[in-house]
Amino acid sequence: MIFVTGGAGFIGANFVLDWLAHSDEPVVNLDKLTYAGNLQNLATLQGDARHIFVQGDIADTALVERLLVEHQPRAVINFAAESHVDRSIHGPDDFIQTNVVGTFKLLEAVRHYWQALPAIKKEAFRLLHVSTDEVYGTLAADAPAFTEDHVYEPNSPYSASKAASDHLVRAWHHTYGLPVLTTNCSNNYGPYHFPEKLIPLMIVNALAGKPLPVYGDGMQIRDWLYVKDHCSAIRRVLDAGHLGQTYNIGGWNEKPNIDIVHTVCRLLDELRPRADGQSYAVQITHVKDRPGHDRRYAIDARKIERELGWRPVETFDTGIRKTVQWYLENADWVANVQTGAYRDWVQAQYAEQAGA
Ligand code: NAD
Ligand code: TYD
Repeated sequence: MIFVTGGAGFIGANFVLDWLAHSDEPVVNLDKLTYAGNLQNLATLQGDARHIFVQGDIADTALVERLLVEHQPRAVINFAAESHVDRSIHGPDDFIQTNVVGTFKLLEAVRHYWQALPAIKKEAFRLLHVSTDEVYGTLAADAPAFTEDHVYEPNSPYSASKAASDHLVRAWHHTYGLPVLTTNCSNNYGPYHFPEKLIPLMIVNALAGKPLPVYGDGMQIRDWLYVKDHCSAIRRVLDAGHLGQTYNIGGWNEKPNIDIVHTVCRLLDELRPRADGQSYAVQITHVKDRPGHDRRYAIDARKIERELGWRPVETFDTGIRKTVQWYLENADWVANVQTGAYRDWVQAQYAEQAGA
């Protein structure tokens, strides 16, 4: 049994699906179902006894402790977080509550559970904390990519809250001996990505005939990782990562935002041409820049390759094509996350489990 938090969000849901595609080891999935949590992401698991969903908060110590004792997981994988930089700028409270206080509460609940385990299970137990490259701050154009030794220099409320959570995880290892692993990954993309983030927003807005809002000059650089490659990396770190270590996970795909937007437009021009025959690129609109916008992120993923033998499978070309195709084939999913209708669906489908 493994225990996943935030498993109804973008990466967590991909991870749960990926895990159960590779293994029959069951998953307890604790998710608060914020606006970003969507049980439709897990609809293919409905009726699958290997997936136990519980609606709840990682900061609810009594609930987490009860679930741990009841299900006896050999590992906890923490995806639960507030994850959107723009939201963190407009309202940082939830980010501090979930990413900092929530991680602290989770660590304490896991520590109590772990300390009470018999020796063999205690030895085998792992807490894997999923974090971001944004904790390292911004890179100059000619600076080498982030290694695991890079100084922490978070610039947004989001990245500061994630940095705080990483420090707590580290301290629980050094102080209490909790067997932790931390991963810091670059920008993910792929199926089930909430359309507030760059790539899904561009696909969805393009198809809706809306403007494609590029912040500032669009020359900010992100390093893109296909979400299923991220999932395989997490499985690998969980299996073989060295306790207390951090692993950077990236796809070796540094791209300026404007190039990403043009790539999305080109793919849509090919796969779903506009009725008037023009390119979707005519919808690109440069808008006011994000305050404190980090200029460049880039991950040096050599440690995880050297020590654990992991490399991404997808190139950006293959991953982005799959992603655009997925959005074209899943218009209902997009419509539901936009209208909020999925919340009614959640209530109807999971009323019994919710709050279990
Ligand atoms: P997401 O916003 O899509 O999903 C977050 C999930 O956590 C949602 O299902 C939400 O309901 C749940 N959640 C939020 N607060 C909770 C709480 N207090 N208790 C329980 N559940 C709660 O995020 P994501 O993009 O899937 O990111 C997952 C993790 O990966 C996060 O920790 C994020 O910081 C990290 N990360 C994401 C990216 C990326 O590109 N998306 C990159 C690097 C790191
Ligand atoms: P985002 O997907 O929000 O991820 P992050 O801020 O965590 O990197 O944004 C990716 C990049 O795209 C970032 O440089 C901000 C930019 N961006 C836009 O230019 N327009 C948009 O509408 C959004 C959502 C992001």
